[in-house]
Amino acid sequence: MVKQSLIDAGADLVEICETAGHPIVYGEKIIDASLPTVLVYGHYDVQPADPVELWHSPPFDPVIKDGKIYARGSADDKGQVFMHVKAFEIMMKNNALPCNVKFMIEGEEEVGSVNLGIFVKANKEKLAADVIVISDTSLIANDVPSITVGLRGLSYVEVEVVGPNKDLHSGVYGGAVDNPVNVLCDMISKMKDADGHITIEGFYDDVEIVSDADRAEMAKAPFDEEAFKKGLGIKATRSEKGFSAPEGSSIRPTLDVNGIWGGYIGEGAKTVLPSKAQAKISMRLVPYQDPAKITQLFKEHFERIAPPSVSVKVTPHHGGDPLVIPTDFPGYRAASKAMEESFGKTPIPVRGGGSIPIVALFEKELGLKSILMGFGLNSDDIHSPNEHYGVFNYLKGIETIPLFFNHFAKASK
Ligand code: BES
Ligand code: MN
Ligand code: MN
Repeated sequence: MVKQSLIDAGADLVEICETAGHPIVYGEKIIDASLPTVLVYGHYDVQPADPVELWHSPPFDPVIKDGKIYARGSADDKGQVFMHVKAFEIMMKNNALPCNVKFMIEGEEEVGSVNLGIFVKANKEKLAADVIVISDTSLIANDVPSITVGLRGLSYVEVEVVGPNKDLHSGVYGGAVDNPVNVLCDMISKMKDADGHITIEGFYDDVEIVSDADRAEMAKAPFDEEAFKKGLGIKATRSEKGFSAPEGSSIRPTLDVNGIWGGYIGEGAKTVLPSKAQAKISMRLVPYQDPAKITQLFKEHFERIAPPSVSVKVTPHHGGDPLVIPTDFPGYRAASKAMEESFGKTPIPVRGGGSIPIVALFEKELGLKSILMGFGLNSDDIHSPNEHYGVFNYLKGIETIPLFFNHFAKASK
């Protein structure tokens, strides 16, 4: 469908590039080799829709309700990719494409983009461009436009704590044999102190210290703490001591359990001392932390704090590098002008808390900076049940993208 929509919109050389995993869709429209080239990146893969029973309508059957498109991927990222297809189609129809454009839409962003990394390294010539544009992030609000100028990195691990060689009677053995679920909870609770600092030795060694002046500048971005709490149904926010909630979710690293299981979780009460406990843990990283180094530090720490009564195993999953994007280059200025025109307000540069692992690799391998010009909202429930994308946001994106192309083409003359 991605391939066909690019063909229909007017792209040439649209192809499906096979990888060891899900394929990449590539397409281009080269109008004049002397003009600048914009490379559009996005992803057609999505996070699982479960728990499906919490959706008000089927996740893969989009419906528009109250001005919002409800579907898995409506905001992250299929809906935002489609804005680029539509904006391109309009520019083609009006004979108004001011620069060359290349599209690279992948299917493995949500699992770390490992195969895209290999593809990029092998196709540097094909992907030659002047700037990369990505719509896969959020605005502060529909009347407070923003451009994302930072992404956190990621280290994701799965841990296993094993005790006795089978589940045991919790009366016969409880009190004499250690319980892996209790042990895992204890180990996890010790990985953060009362101030919210992560206790892994060396974890903060490479963390960027953001200056007070920069923090004061960031604090100017509007944040309604009451609305934030109300929207999530929480009574209080909680961030690392000395940092605000927006700082905690952008310029500081985290350690969070994403899932934890073990023992008896069926109906009623079964008295059992489990043999094993498991958890999936993510660490969001900030400049200049290195995901591989952090994963290693985690592993050593986890093995060190395990009591002798259990054995532990740490299995790393995918990772990604953190990144900061400057605001003083032609691509950013063009995006800022475009949004200023379409929203009537200058967008605010903000550092995001999420990760898009391939962006750091684009810079390293292609020498290209990315513009994170996303049109979603943090309240779109991406990765959650009832993900939605505002029709306003979808249309605003289609309106803004050609303005960006025009400003970028002009700036490069
Ligand atoms: N589009 C998101 C990232 C995002 C969302 C950044 C909102 C900023 C604001 C992306 O699809 C995503 O979810 N990435 C994963 C990466 C991971 C699975 C390697 C993430 O951040 O968890
Ligand atoms: Mn995304
Ligand atoms: Mn996502």
